[in-house]
Amino acid sequence: MKSRSHAVTARRYKAASPIRWAGSKRALLSDLVDLVPDDVETYFEPFAGSACLFFALNPRSAVISDLNEELISFYRTLRSNHAKVSTIVQSLDVNGADYYWLRAVAVEDLTATQRAARFLYLNRFSFNGVYRTDLKGRFNVPRGKNTGSLPSTSDLARFGRDLRGVNLLAVDFEEAVSECGEGDFVYLDPPYFTRPNVTLGEYGYGALGEQGDLRRLGDVLRKLTERGARWLLSYSPSPTLQGYSGAIWKRRIVVTRNVGGWRSSRRAASEMLYANYTPV
Ligand SMILES: C[S@@+](CC[C@H](N)C(=O)[O-])C[C@H]1O[C@@H](n2cnc3c(N)ncnc32)[C@H](O)[C@@H]1O
Repeated sequence: MKSRSHAVTARRYKAASPIRWAGSKRALLSDLVDLVPDDVETYFEPFAGSACLFFALNPRSAVISDLNEELISFYRTLRSNHAKVSTIVQSLDVNGADYYWLRAVAVEDLTATQRAARFLYLNRFSFNGVYRTDLKGRFNVPRGKNTGSLPSTSDLARFGRDLRGVNLLAVDFEEAVSECGEGDFVYLDPPYFTRPNVTLGEYGYGALGEQGDLRRLGDVLRKLTERGARWLLSYSPSPTLQGYSGAIWKRRIVVTRNVGGWRSSRRAASEMLYANYTPV
């Protein structure tokens, strides 16, 4: 049964999410928040990553999901035991010296809180917050530089509280929105199809991003429209996807990106927002 209608209220905090994530929408939050309708029943974010839009909105009813099981398992444990996760992570070397030792530890040998702390620590100190695994599912991203500090105990507590009552699912996006209907809202931020050699493995194996996935994404968006749900999609400029999806509204936004992950070579790139409603 759905919760009663409510307005999603935007909140602005210094830390947008407990984690860093490749493709995070943190820099675009002020644009995105204003485009979300204020009469949403259940908020869905099926390509969650750092889920910073969800944390900014703090909706009363939400389904947050991603194909990445370690990520969703981290959110679940942060919700149930943020204090223990924080204690463990603070006991590790904050300069990142424990990075390669911790990366080599088998997650099967860890408790849920140790596993969540390991995820948080590796995420903070990895190169660009990228999550990539080898074919056996072992995290293999090298340590990065200029990664900033670990989230504070009070921030972790706040993010853990925000996740209370949220339906957290480690599933493909199509399954995640299968129950979505009238009054609901979906924000989608899938990996963009650009150049295969660049994106390969950035979000792990099986991630969306192949040219052929555009049709499947478009079909899901059309079904959402048929069921009366509103959706907002972040994507690269793509007339093909716009056609498949049946979007009635679009806006171009300019973002500054680090090319190849290097801060020294930043360049402006165009992204698109598509929607099946006209934001007011
Ligand atoms: C661009 S990132 C999302 C970034 C997020 N909006 C943020 O602000 O951090 C894309 C996410 O989609 C996830 N993903 C890739 N393929 C997926 C699929 N088929 N179903 C669900 N999630 C998928 C990846 O694991 C990744 O976290």
